[in-house]
Amino acid sequence: MAAGIIVIITVSDTCYKNPTNDTSGPTLVELVKSLFPQSTIQTTIIPDERKIIEDKLKEYCMKNADLIITTGGTGFSNRDVTPEATRAVIEKEAPAISVALTIESLKKTPMAMVSRSVSGICDKTLIINFPGSKKAVIECFEVVKPILHHAIEIIK
Ligand code: MTE
Repeated sequence: MAAGIIVIITVSDTCYKNPTNDTSGPTLVELVKSLFPQSTIQTTIIPDERKIIEDKLKEYCMKNADLIITTGGTGFSNRDVTPEATRAVIEKEAPAISVALTIESLKKTPMAMVSRSVSGICDKTLIINFPGSKKAVIECFEVVKPILHHAIEIIK
């Protein structure tokens, strides 16, 4: 695959206030690097604010990022709005990615029922929501790893 841009967005009030709390973002960077050694990886940490999440997703879609993986804000709490922001930005949903994440995650923990992850395409960018823990991103990356190169190629 030609070198492109891959973006990791950590969505978390706690990590936004203190970036040293972010363990899932840096873990994802390492995982992405190993699968896409040629790509430029960009990272950002934003609070659990729907408008900010939407704007950030749009910004990277306009920059033609190949892939955006968000981590955090997929749960049931008041402040968890990553799926709503993602749904507002994507033009096409990719439900099978989220279904696969749920099926495989349920084999690891029943708490997977508490994640509402959304996946979809905005212009030339694939967006996937992961939950917000180091353990969850390792497990979820393993699920999507086999399809990422192919998915990105088709979208281009
Ligand atoms: N999925 C996997 N694969 N592994 C996990 O450890 N944790 C769950 C769930 N999905 C988990 C998982 C937990 S504990 C929560 S609360 C939800 O994701 C939502 O997490 P988030 O609000 O940080 O996105």
